[in-house]
Amino acid sequence: MRIKACRKAHFNAAHRLYKKEWSDKKNEEVFGKCSNPKYHGHNYELIVGVVGTVDPETGFLIDLKILKEYIKTEVEDYMDHKNLNEEVEEFRELNPTVENIAFVIWNRLRDKIPIRYDIEVTLYETPRNFVIYKGE
Ligand code: NI
Repeated sequence: MRIKACRKAHFNAAHRLYKKEWSDKKNEEVFGKCSNPKYHGHNYELIVGVVGTVDPETGFLIDLKILKEYIKTEVEDYMDHKNLNEEVEEFRELNPTVENIAFVIWNRLRDKIPIRYDIEVTLYETPRNFVIYKGE
């Protein structure tokens, strides 16, 4: 039986979307308010889904305490209350869009969660705007 277990999490972070080769004016045209040179914050809501087969002996898909711990170390401790552009290594060159943040979170969790599970990352940047990344 294939099933998906999910855990929700939350973090706050600051970012600026821009390309350094572009003028402030062009950055504002493309990235809008998210290109503010003084940075700004978002309240990110995260849902991590783990898909796989239930262990018939325990009835568990995955020990959710372990999933909770990986989300804490790989996402919350790593990104919460950080300036993503300046303090999170993956975004030194990569624009911290919600798409790229979901991609980075997926990759960090992929390194920890056993390969027998598929992973889905849903990341909300605002209550109405979100992305889903499944590693495809
Ligand atoms: Ni923004």
